[in-house]
Amino acid sequence: MKKTGLIYSFNTKKTAIAAKLIHEAFSTKNIDIVNAEDIDEKKFLSYDLLILGVPTWFDGELPNYWDEFVPAIEDMDLKGKTVAIFGNGDQRGYPENFVDGIGIMADILEKRGAKIIGHTSVEGYEFERSKAQRGSMLAGLALDFENQRKLNKERIAKWVDQLKKEFN
Ligand SMILES: Cc1cc2nc3c(=O)[nH]c(=O)nc-3n(C[C@H](O)[C@H](O)[C@H](O)COP(=O)(O)O)c2cc1C
Repeated sequence: MKKTGLIYSFNTKKTAIAAKLIHEAFSTKNIDIVNAEDIDEKKFLSYDLLILGVPTWFDGELPNYWDEFVPAIEDMDLKGKTVAIFGNGDQRGYPENFVDGIGIMADILEKRGAKIIGHTSVEGYEFERSKAQRGSMLAGLALDFENQRKLNKERIAKWVDQLKKEFN
């Protein structure tokens, strides 16, 4: 059976809220919830579908817990793995680095052979630049608690439906 891991930092507030909503939207108990701050290579590679919570910090960078795991990812063979990334960002506060973390992580994973699913449209967001942008799409689900919190539930429901279709 295919294994799914939902990986995010348990020390976050907003990412943890988003992760709970994503878990509920899947309406299955068949998803492991894993703390990104405790992740290791073996655990990461034990999943077929990885759903990663990657907020953007430090003006366009990954949070420390993901940054520290990047060298391990860069040594992995991720062929056959499917990854979906959701990430918090603040489009008004950081319009030149909006959800960069999603794009940084997607690039790293793709280089190792992973397939990224769950791309979403840039429509509905206002920003100047984002490393997550691929044409008219973002390389994952962008959530903006600061400016568009009310849209979270709807965006998550739509994204999870999309993931169910794209991963089968
Ligand atoms: C110091 C600081 C830097 C940030 N840098 C960015 C950024 O470069 N791009 C962005 O989209 N959001 C940025 N944000 C906004 C966060 O991504 C946003 O608040 C997010 O919800 C944090 O999620 P978390 O609390 O779950 O880690 C920054 C926030 C802070 C406080």
